[in-house]
Amino acid sequence: MTLIKHSILIVRSKIFSFIILFTICLVICSIINAQGIYKEKYRPSVHYTPAQHWINDPNGLVYFAGEYHLFYQYNPFANVWGHMTWGHAVSQDLVHWKELPPAISEEGEVMIFSGSAVIDENNSSGFATRKGEVPMVAIYTGHIEKKSQSQHIAYSLDKGRSWTKYKGNPVLDLGTKEFRDPKVFWYAPEKKWVMAVVLPIDKKVLFYSSKNLKEWAMMSSFGPAGDTTGIWECPDLFKVPIDGSPGKFKWVLMHSPAPYMQYFVGEFDGTTFVNENPSSIIYRPDYGPDYYAAIVYNGLPAASPPISIGWVNNWEYARDIPVSPWNGAMSLPRELRVKKSDSGWLLLQQPVKNFSRQYFGEKSWSNISTKEKWSLAESARGSYAAEITLHRHQKNRFDIGLAGGALVLTYDDALSTITLKRQGNSAFQNEKFLRLSNYSARLRLNSETLTIKILFDQSIAEIYVNGGEAVMTAQVFPEKENQPLTLRSDNGDKVPSIKFWQLKSIWNEK
Ligand code: FRU
Repeated sequence: MTLIKHSILIVRSKIFSFIILFTICLVICSIINAQGIYKEKYRPSVHYTPAQHWINDPNGLVYFAGEYHLFYQYNPFANVWGHMTWGHAVSQDLVHWKELPPAISEEGEVMIFSGSAVIDENNSSGFATRKGEVPMVAIYTGHIEKKSQSQHIAYSLDKGRSWTKYKGNPVLDLGTKEFRDPKVFWYAPEKKWVMAVVLPIDKKVLFYSSKNLKEWAMMSSFGPAGDTTGIWECPDLFKVPIDGSPGKFKWVLMHSPAPYMQYFVGEFDGTTFVNENPSSIIYRPDYGPDYYAAIVYNGLPAASPPISIGWVNNWEYARDIPVSPWNGAMSLPRELRVKKSDSGWLLLQQPVKNFSRQYFGEKSWSNISTKEKWSLAESARGSYAAEITLHRHQKNRFDIGLAGGALVLTYDDALSTITLKRQGNSAFQNEKFLRLSNYSARLRLNSETLTIKILFDQSIAEIYVNGGEAVMTAQVFPEKENQPLTLRSDNGDKVPSIKFWQLKSIWNEK
């Protein structure tokens, strides 16, 4: 009897020790995991990425009650495209993000494609039924594979946390397979909602209006125009302040002719958009390979300039980039203005002001000789910002090498161009990625110096040239990590100044 009791006791204590050990293991594993997450190879540390799985276009950018909402195309099951659902994150400063559970889910055969969100202050939709409720309304494309695309709406009465799909969906259906990406905004002068939406194959943006978000009437169309090589996706129409002219604005129509983006600048009278830029020139919000489907925020405070976010990727190779368990990053949010140049209206972009809070450990150098290759070892680890000022008048060519030459940026004074090349040193040996490796933008310079701002973040470089009149975003996956930033020039010119900062990660900050 005592022997049996004794054996039971031993078994019990073994089970007990096993449970204790197992719990300790679990705790240790989750600590390691918490430290490891957002630290995987190539995972950006200041750009938004989801903890896991696939994302593409930003959707429903809207500011409400102190929160910037970032919805996006999300596959809740894998890190490749599929089961499109609206993922969701929020931020109070456009720098730090909190990922929330998915917002609007695929249902039956209807996937939730790209679209926008508005705050229906006057309850024009009638979705609010109690006093004090303000509906957040999402307008998106309901996509049925190989069958149809039509515009749908859904609403939330709890700051975007839970969503109800409208029973009367679709609210706009042309009976076509290719009709998508509605961007809706409030047009105050006529107290109505305006929607920009594309016919991708016809390369047209259509404009509709509505009083209640449920019934839509067509007003006008724009296109084909500018870049018509690829299908047209993700349109947006918004008012942008003119730099240096307080109270003055232009209208910008921006969209994604695959796999890049372009914009037009002109006027919108509530019905029709008229482009005022020369039709022979293609203007791009980003001249690099990896910036797509950008749209701007709705509902920003009146004093704020428009703020855009784009997807840092390219459909030509997005699926295969060497990252895991996530795939896809958002650009830094950008503030937008326009200025008139001798070749038309240009969009000026800068990362939002709050972003500079991530800078630390400033270092600076001046009058650097580039006779020999100059190299900045400090840049070798992690994420950094650099501002390089060049003299313009010496008809020189400067090369700035990032990540040990995985990316080379060349400023050519004689041609007034900035060129970005991805070359060598790549762990991503994808044929399309290697082929799409040479990008140029012409600069409209009118001062003696030129400033190039580089934001390098593990596998993403965002480069803002000449006050943001040309921006280039590119992914790089350097085989050899921890390589310095280098400078050289054809005739050894001196570089007047370089400023350099480390960037604090936006995740797990203490
Ligand atoms: C653009 C796009 C949109 C579409 C979505 C689907 O990247 O093709 O036109 O709504 O992605 O995920």
